Amino acid sequence: MTLDLDYIRSQYPVFSNPATARWAMFENAGGSYVPAQVIDRLNDFFQFTKVQPYGPFEASIAAGEAMDDGYNVLAGLLNCDPDELTMGPSTSMNTYVLAQAVRPTLRPGDEIVVTNQDHEANIGCWRRLEEFGAVIREWRIDPQTGELSLGDLEALLSDRTRLVCFTLCSNIVGTINDFQAISKMAHDVGALAVGDGVSFAPHQVLDVGKSGLDIYLFSTYKTFGPHLGIMWGKPSAFDTLEPQGHYFNREIPHYNFNPAGPLHAEIAATAGIGAYIDAVYDHHFSEKEPDFHMRARRVFGLFHGYETVQAGRILDAVKAIKGSRVIGQHQAQEGCRAATISFAVEGMTSKETTEKLVRQEVAVRNGDFYAVRCLEGLGFEDVEDGIIRISLVHYNSKQDVDRLVAALGKL
Ligand SMILES: Cc1ncc(COP(=O)(O)O)c(C=O)c1O
Repeated sequence: MTLDLDYIRSQYPVFSNPATARWAMFENAGGSYVPAQVIDRLNDFFQFTKVQPYGPFEASIAAGEAMDDGYNVLAGLLNCDPDELTMGPSTSMNTYVLAQAVRPTLRPGDEIVVTNQDHEANIGCWRRLEEFGAVIREWRIDPQTGELSLGDLEALLSDRTRLVCFTLCSNIVGTINDFQAISKMAHDVGALAVGDGVSFAPHQVLDVGKSGLDIYLFSTYKTFGPHLGIMWGKPSAFDTLEPQGHYFNREIPHYNFNPAGPLHAEIAATAGIGAYIDAVYDHHFSEKEPDFHMRARRVFGLFHGYETVQAGRILDAVKAIKGSRVIGQHQAQEGCRAATISFAVEGMTSKETTEKLVRQEVAVRNGDFYAVRCLEGLGFEDVEDGIIRISLVHYNSKQDVDRLVAALGKL
């Protein structure tokens, strides 16, 4: 089974506009394009049901139903109960609120493990708990590869560890971390496992209940949807934390850890991600599959297979540049690496390299991508110039990759 790229791209209005379609878009880890199914739902909400939802009149009932569709689709995607989801404005906001929910439960000397591989969203909010007596233990990357070792984690754990906060896939390194093993190690010392899936979710579907995690976070604006952060919490984990919503809303699912309140139209629009996945499923598979989570798994299996082949081509082209340094794994292998490829070239600033690629209508960026500690850990002195990041998702065509490979060749 091969992914029908013409079909996939026909679902994205951005590819029917010559001004935007001419760019080979490789900044997807910063924010992905959205299919028509998502845009339609957002438009519909604003046009017809832009009222306070869950009220007694028609438009308000419809608004609430549209939002429920969003909760249900995301719950299906993660194979969980919709009541276990909190949808905030971003993952950074969700981790911040989560840290506030953990804070009153800490005893002085309780330990929190953070990495220096993560985006700051899953580090800074935990480090700030030092002010309240928490002890931070840093799980450090290998300075050459950027990867984390389970042996190093073992040495940091103790019966004082309360949380292990890590990323399923770094937005710089691209390696898919062994989240099940990490979660088990956390549980063995009685700690909770908090997993950042922002750079994982655009490439693979997670069954949260089987993941071992206690808390899983990702952002729909990097996963073909509107700008939201999704937080799943295992009830046994969420129940131990201090709710952050209004005191009178404690019995309402979705509100306990969302002091901002939900973003109505965006939540409704997430249902479009489900409609898109189903359209892709129906186009590629003839078997009836009643379970949306299983349909999504098959669709993302196709995505990941295609992405891995293209990532291999990109890695080869980057490795062929004289003086290049590739971060993370040098081979593309399914289940081991996301198609997020970071590199630097000796004798050229990353800004210069990026500009050369952009001149050929290859959309990439350089910088620290808010993973400042990761770049420092990799020995980069000018973190602002940082690395060049190429991030591919399933809608990137082979022609996009051809153009990128040719542009890399010219370097
Ligand atoms: C790996 C990773 N984690 C967390 C975040 C933060 O997500 P948000 O922008 O939704 O706060 C990002 C954003 O780039 C990211 O790449």
